[in-house]
Amino acid sequence: MENTTRLLQRHQASLLSRHVLMVGADDLGLKELTAASLHLHSDDTSLLAEQAAMLPVIEKATDLLVVILPKSREQLAFWLASLAGQIQAPMELWLVGASNGGVRGGVTTLKAFTDEVVQRDSARHCKLFVTTLLPADFSQDAFEKTWPCDVFPANSTLKPFQVSSYPGVFSHGRADPGTDLLLKTLEPLTMRGSALDVGCGAGVISVVLAQKGCAVTAVDVSATAVFAATQTVQKNGQKASVFCSDVFNQVQGRFDQIVTNPPFHDGTRRTTAVTQRLIEQAPQYLAARGVLWVVANQGLPYEDWLRGAFTSVEVVAENNRFRVWRAQR
Ligand SMILES: C[S@@+](CC[C@H](N)C(=O)[O-])C[C@H]1O[C@@H](n2cnc3c(N)ncnc32)[C@H](O)[C@@H]1O
Repeated sequence: MENTTRLLQRHQASLLSRHVLMVGADDLGLKELTAASLHLHSDDTSLLAEQAAMLPVIEKATDLLVVILPKSREQLAFWLASLAGQIQAPMELWLVGASNGGVRGGVTTLKAFTDEVVQRDSARHCKLFVTTLLPADFSQDAFEKTWPCDVFPANSTLKPFQVSSYPGVFSHGRADPGTDLLLKTLEPLTMRGSALDVGCGAGVISVVLAQKGCAVTAVDVSATAVFAATQTVQKNGQKASVFCSDVFNQVQGRFDQIVTNPPFHDGTRRTTAVTQRLIEQAPQYLAARGVLWVVANQGLPYEDWLRGAFTSVEVVAENNRFRVWRAQR
């Protein structure tokens, strides 16, 4: 159980009579809290929160909003603005977060949506702040960021395009140098058939695969990433099947290539467990001569896992920060 949940447990008595919406509820331990009614929202679609979505929805009876501090302050502002846009009258709001996770910065963000913020508790390295959220107009479009993907040489058959993203998506608002190295590596290659982009983020890799003529499937565990990738693909006149999936768990069939800049975070924690699962299961989702392309930071332990799962593994590009592997069954 997360420390933020343990802190909320100390306030269980005040929750009993309240109709609560928990926003950013990534800890399943939150389900153990008792309230008059309790609705959980999470951007992480693997967690079985009732609202697995980019933005939370305030149910009719709700009288208390509890926001668990997300890892990005822009995402916090996105959630708060969306909540403020759904209320007609001021509503009590609690913000809970880890002291070393930027909760004080979260309070600064919160102040743009409220009059006064009061610290109610501090324990287990976390803090609980209480305030009243004020109604305000909300524009989802105001939170969209776009930027160009133009890493290819002028004579390339691949054309520059605009990436579309929303707060919380990986590398929101800027190109990622690891992804750029992967795209430059793929640029001169002929790629045909089906392609799966696992952990698609804002859909940068998907658009390049589609431009190359592949039939693209793109998946991500984040509802916001899936929304952003869908926008990026559509706004660039490309086609891809984009949907939520925890690695391969919603994916069917086999692909001629799987292309990924895999996650090294699970929520706020650094972890390589998701990528280990991705590499070990990838052969089951590849066609007979299918290829897995992976880019990752130098120093991450992927080569051993690749060699364990594939017969042919080679480093096809690298610089002082990143490495691109090609692995074939
Ligand atoms: C390093 S980012 C790469 C994003 C995008 N492909 C790019 O290159 O910009 C990794 C992505 O994996 C997603 N992710 C994390 N855990 C996942 C999981 N269990 N299943 C699917 N995607 C996951 C993250 O939401 C994030 O979008």
